[in-house]
Amino acid sequence: MIKTLSDTVILSNGVKMPGIGFGTYKSTEGNDAEDSVREAIRLGMRHIDCASFYKNEEGVGRGLAAAMSENSLSRSDLFITSKVWTSDKAYDDVIRSCRESLTRLGLEYLDLLLIHWPADDHAYPDWKEINFDTWRAFTSLYKDGLVRAIGVSNYWPEHIEPLMDLEVPPMVDQIEYHPGYMQNGCTAFLDGYRKSYYAERAGVPYDPNDRIRTEYTKEECVSADCADRTGKICSGFCFDDVPAYCKEHGIVVEAWSPLGRAKVLQHPLLTSLAEKYGKSPSQICLRWEIQHDILPLPKSVHKDRIKENTEIFDFDLSAEDMALIDAMPIMGFSTHTPKDVPW
Ligand SMILES: NC(=O)c1ccc[n+]([C@@H]2O[C@H](COP(=O)([O-])OP(=O)(O)OC[C@H]3O[C@@H](n4cnc5c(N)ncnc54)[C@H](OP(=O)(O)O)[C@@H]3O)[C@@H](O)[C@H]2O)c1
Repeated sequence: MIKTLSDTVILSNGVKMPGIGFGTYKSTEGNDAEDSVREAIRLGMRHIDCASFYKNEEGVGRGLAAAMSENSLSRSDLFITSKVWTSDKAYDDVIRSCRESLTRLGLEYLDLLLIHWPADDHAYPDWKEINFDTWRAFTSLYKDGLVRAIGVSNYWPEHIEPLMDLEVPPMVDQIEYHPGYMQNGCTAFLDGYRKSYYAERAGVPYDPNDRIRTEYTKEECVSADCADRTGKICSGFCFDDVPAYCKEHGIVVEAWSPLGRAKVLQHPLLTSLAEKYGKSPSQICLRWEIQHDILPLPKSVHKDRIKENTEIFDFDLSAEDMALIDAMPIMGFSTHTPKDVPW
């Protein structure tokens, strides 16, 4: 577990990655991206998470250049990630996408390149071939020195498994992970959650029980009477414990939406723990992730919040409080999984 903002974790190829990163999704290309990155680095963050999809890499690049000059940092003091969007999964497109991100960011190399989402069999019959092709391009960029490490994002074990025997296996998996969504259950409850989420947004009635289907553990789902117990036709697909699988295979797990996009911060357990520890709910979330050895990537465009999100190394959540957070019902879930995204 990391102990300070500057502590690093070591990837399977020996590259050191700062154990907390700064998110940039939805920071606008104008001042937001530039100023927030600049502030995060001024406060000691060294790891910035970007993506071609965020359409703000030029702003991030300006922030990086300003921060390096203002804080007398060299390129090697920073750890910069970018991601290739799903429309660019083919070999040549991956190479082009990476080069375009480098140009926009004003960098000569990336520390980490991720493929944003896997090709999955719900949308691509030849999903394995597509993922192999993507990975061949990633491996080539890695060997050419344009990227120091390569990884995946939103991959479940079934997507990672075929890549594990290749010459260079993935070093990182960046997944949605926050209190209320630990990616270690069964998809049956996610279906219920998703339906109730959209019903609520549309202002139509929904079954509140759909929100609390935490009883469907993996073991229950694979048991023969699972469908009877849910009273619904089970999707038949269990997702393994994604973080456990990654840890077992030497893959570092990064948490996207580590604050559940602020949707979990009002939960009474998190507000009461915040009071107990004299911290904010956001700091409780980030501390919980760090104590689980999951690397959080909090995003904010507000200076006070960026600072708050760095101040998480002066307290420890007790084992009992960790377990209470682990047991929170599903909430803050983005509703996106690789089994059903339309991209
Ligand atoms: N690989 C993927 O598919 C994927 C998907 C999503 C995100 N990501 C990465 O992960 C990063 C983080 O995820 P995210 O941006 O979705 O969500 P997040 O970091 O969980 O939450 C960001 C939201 O929380 C607010 N916030 C931040 N700090 C706060 C605090 N201390 N108190 C109260 N509110 C606070 C932010 O508002 P303000 O900005 O207004 O302060 C923003 O609305 C992204 O920025 C991106 O780099 C990756």
